Amino acid sequence: MRLNLTDNAGVSLSATIRVAEAADLSELLALDHGAQSTPARQAFIRRAVMRGACHVALLEGRLLGCMVLDYTFFDNGFISLVYVAQESRRCGIGRALVQHAQRICLTPKLFTSTNASNMPMRNLLLGQGYQPSGMVEHLDEGDPEMVFFKSLPDRAIAVRLLHAGDETVLAHVAQGVFDHNIDPRLTHEFLGDPRHHLAVAEDNGVVVGMASAVHYVHPDKSPELWINEVGVAPTHQGRGLAKALLAAMFEAGRAAGCAEAWVLTDRSNLPAMRLYASLDGKQSPNDQVMFTFRINSEKT
Ligand SMILES: CC(C)(COP(=O)(O)OP(=O)(O)OC[C@H]1O[C@@H](n2cnc3c(N)ncnc32)[C@H](O)[C@@H]1OP(=O)(O)O)[C@@H](O)C(=O)NCCC(=O)NCCS
Repeated sequence: MRLNLTDNAGVSLSATIRVAEAADLSELLALDHGAQSTPARQAFIRRAVMRGACHVALLEGRLLGCMVLDYTFFDNGFISLVYVAQESRRCGIGRALVQHAQRICLTPKLFTSTNASNMPMRNLLLGQGYQPSGMVEHLDEGDPEMVFFKSLPDRAIAVRLLHAGDETVLAHVAQGVFDHNIDPRLTHEFLGDPRHHLAVAEDNGVVVGMASAVHYVHPDKSPELWINEVGVAPTHQGRGLAKALLAAMFEAGRAAGCAEAWVLTDRSNLPAMRLYASLDGKQSPNDQVMFTFRINSEKT
C-alpha cells in the first residue's frame, strides 16, 4: 500500500506499508530501541514477523515504523504495537500504520491500548475516532493502561466451508483467487463430494480467498487431509485470510477423522513457506520431487 505523507519540513514523501519479512528483523529490532534492550520485546517482534502479523512502513527501502495486528483479544483485532523511528515522528506514519490496521482488520471490532501517560498515542487514537474502553491498572504502577476501541461496521469478511447447494457462492470471485474460470459442472461435482472440501473468504458477497482440500483413506493408514490449493486475491493479501482459511480447513479435516494435514509448496515461495511455518507446520527433511504423467492426451 502506497502512502502520501508530509515530513516535518512540509516535503511530500511517498512511503509504502507491507507485511514484514524475516529479512527485516535486524532493521526492525534496531528501529525499536525498547526491543534492543528487552529480550521479551525482541522475542515478541520475532514471533509477530514469523506469524505474518507485523507490518512495516518504508521510505526508499528504509524502515520507518512498524505495527503488529493480531486477534488474541477475545478473538477481536488488537493493535499490540505501533512504533515509529524517533527521527520520522510527526510525519503521519503512526496514523498511516493505525489506518492500515483498520483497513486490513478482519473483525468488526478493533482494540488497542496505551499508557495513560502516552499523549502522542492517545491523541492519535482519538483523532482516528477511537473510543476509550476502560483502564487496566497495575501493569505499569502509577501509569494505567488505557484500552481504546474502534468499530469497523463495514467489516463483513467471513470465512466458511461450502457444501452441496452453495454453488452460487462461486458466481462472484475476485481476480487472482482461482487459476481459471469457475466451471459450474465441476463446482457441482466438487461440492457434492463429501471427501472434497472448499473454504472461502467472502467480502460483501465476493469470494476473495479460498483453500481446497481432499481427505482420503488408505488400507493401512488413517485418513489424511491433502491441502490442494490456497489462493487470496491480491487486494486482500497480508490480512491473515490464508491462515483463517486453513484453520477452517483443519476443522473440516478433524471432523472427517484426519489426524494430519499436508501440503506441498516450493521453497522459493516465501509467502507460502512463512504461512505454513506460522501454523506450526513441520517441514519434511527430504528433497521430494513431483512427477506428473499425462494419462489422456485428449483432455486438458
Ligand atoms: C505514538 C507514535 C506511534 C505516533 O507516531 P507518529 O508517526 O509520530 O504519529 P503521526 O505523525 O501519525 O501523528 C498522528 C497524530 O498523533 C498525535 N501525535 C503524534 N505525536 C504527538 C505528540 N508528540 N504530541 C501530541 N500528539 C501527537 C497527533 O494527534 C497527530 O496528528 P497531528 O499531527 O495532525 O496533530 C510515535 O510517537 C511512537 O512511535 N512512539 C513510541 C511508541 C509508542 O508509544 N507506541 C504506542 C504504544 S501503544
